[in-house]
Formats: sequence, structure tokens, C-alpha cells
Amino acid sequence: MPGAIHAEGLVKTFGDVRALDGVDLDVPEGTVLGLLGPNGAGKTTAVRCLTTLLRPDSGRAVVAGVDVLKHPDTVRRSIGLSGQFAAVDDYLTGWENLQMVGQLYQMRSKAAKARAAELLEQFHLSDAADRPAKTYSGGMRRRLDLAAALVVSPPVMFMDEPTTGLDPRNRQQLWEVIKQLVSGGTTLLLTTQYLEEADHLAHDIAVVDHGRVIAQGTSDQLKARTGGERVEVVVHERDHIAEATEVLRGLGKGEITVEEHTRRLTVPVTGGAKLLAEIIRELDARGIEIDDIGLRRPTLDDVFLSLTGHVAEAAAPDAQDGSRAETGKEALK
Ligand SMILES: Nc1ncnc2c1ncn2[C@@H]1O[C@H](COP(=O)(O)OP(=O)(O)OP(=O)(O)O)[C@@H](O)[C@H]1O
Ligand SMILES: [Mg+2]
Repeated sequence: MPGAIHAEGLVKTFGDVRALDGVDLDVPEGTVLGLLGPNGAGKTTAVRCLTTLLRPDSGRAVVAGVDVLKHPDTVRRSIGLSGQFAAVDDYLTGWENLQMVGQLYQMRSKAAKARAAELLEQFHLSDAADRPAKTYSGGMRRRLDLAAALVVSPPVMFMDEPTTGLDPRNRQQLWEVIKQLVSGGTTLLLTTQYLEEADHLAHDIAVVDHGRVIAQGTSDQLKARTGGERVEVVVHERDHIAEATEVLRGLGKGEITVEEHTRRLTVPVTGGAKLLAEIIRELDARGIEIDDIGLRRPTLDDVFLSLTGHVAEAAAPDAQDGSRAETGKEALK
């Protein structure tokens, strides 16, 4: 049985550009698929085809049990879409924006009001509800846009880069809202350039590049394809680097990388957490003080690099920072 979102062989060309080059997707009901890819990969084109905004040249799609090409109007009634660029009316207040959507869907006025109030509350916009949207910050606009997409509580949602351009705090807040939404049973397809975001939110990740799904699986499955775990150690004193290297040579499984200036040593390992404990004991026994130690599994950045041979350009600096910051913490989880 096909999932809540099902696509087969979607092709869409714009002149010479094959924006979609045969995309297959399956999103089981109540799950989140992260469509992950760099600029120009075809993410928005896929979302537009699945949400009836664009007709593919070939292929078929079924959303919420309905054929997208044959019955677009029916599909539209079962889906919500939050586009890549927030579609709020600047001159209306937050409150009016949501009411307007309710009217578009022919909700009764009382029900539309109640729903608007509920969403403003949920998205932390109640205080700003009576201000025109043009006075909102980027994060507030993004939240209002998502709220607007949820006025009719659609069973299937599409979000095209929901957190692009948001600061880390706003991104985290939005993640919480999205998690809440999904725990209520909504099926979600979300596109992102942030590898970390797909990792956080998606049950399944489809990596797209040049209009094709080049890999699909859970975050763990994708990471496993990239190869094994490493232990990273930051020793407190530069003088201890040599001896720590010796310890890692004894316990690790391969070539040790040493970054002198950061006092960071990295070694491939097998045996994960158990071995990590062993390394800590051995370093401690020799009186080698450490600033940080962690078991590092491949990040989705590594995954992308190994699958495509290039980094996800736009996402790389941001995501790399994220993975560095996480390294130390991962060991403590
Ligand atoms: N209406 C259009 N006319 C011409 N070319 C288009 C059109 N829409 C998309 N394309 C091209 O199709 C390709 C895929 O674009 P798409 O917008 O789907 O990528 P994306 O993965 O959403 O990228 P981004 O991360 O920048 O949003 C790009 O090469 C783009 O230039
Ligand atoms: Mg896009």
C-alpha cells in the first residue's frame, strides 16, 4: 500500500535543465521525510509537483490517497503547504492573515476565529497578533506562514525549507512546533539544506542531487554507509600529544590524525562506547589530562560528501560548525 505521499518517476524539465530526473518517493502515513539537497537540487520543484502547483512532464504521484494529476482539486483539500518564501500579506495583521486563510477554506467565522487564536498562541505570536505582518521579524513571518498552512489541520503537510534564514533559537523553536505537529499524526515532507535539521526531524531522509534521489534511509543508515566511528580527543597540554598518540595507536583501528594547534587527535575505532571508556581509563592512568573526548559518528555532511563527491555547498559552513560543536557533547549522551 502506498504511503501518504507517493511519487514515481517524476520528471520535470525547464528548457535544458532537468530539474527532476525521475524522482521516486514514498512517505508512510504519520512519518516525516526529509528531502535533503543543495541549491538547485530540485527540492522545490518536487514539492511544487506534489502540491499540484506544477505539472510534471512524466511520472505519477498520489497524495493522501488521491492521484495528483487526475484530481488536483481534491488533493489541495487534504494538504498544507508552507513555501520556501513566506506567503504572508504584509498589510494584514497576524490575526487577519490567519482569518483570511480560514475564509479561503470557507470555514465558519466562529471556527476560523477560534483556530486563528489557537495557532497564534501555539506559534508564540499572540502578542503580535494585532500588528501588521510587515512589522514582524523574519522568524515571526516564518512562524505566521507555517501557522497559515495549518489553519485547516491538513493530514499531509509540505514545508519547503521551513527554517532557512532563521537564527538558531528560532530554528529550535520551529523544530519543536514541527515535532508537536507530527506527534499529532500529520505526514510531513520537508525540504532542507541543513543536514542537522533532517537529522533532528526526519524519520527518513532522501538525498537529492541534480534532480535524482541518490540515497535514502534513516540518518543512521546513511551514516553507516559512510564508514565507521572515530574517537576524538583534545588533550589539555601540547606536551602530552605524543603519549596520547601512543595510547590511541594501541587501542584504535587505523591511522591517527593529529592537529597540533588544537591538540586534537582522531582515530578510527570499532567497539564504540566501550572502547571510549577504555581510552579514557588509559589516558587517566598515565596522567594525561583531557579537555574533550568524544565518539564521533559520521555527520550528514560526511554522508553528502561521500555520496556526491562534493560538499553541500550552501549548507557546508553552517553544518560544519554544528557538527564540531556536537562532537564533545556526543560522548556525554
Ligand atoms: N520556473 C523555472 N524556470 C526555469 N528553471 C527552473 C524553474 N524552476 C526551477 N528551475 C531550475 O530547476 C533546478 C531545480 O530548482 P529547484 O528550485 O527545484 O531547486 P531547489 O533544490 O529547491 O534549490 P534551493 O535550495 O536553491 O531552493 C534549478 O536548476 C533551477 O534553476
Ligand atoms: Mg528550493
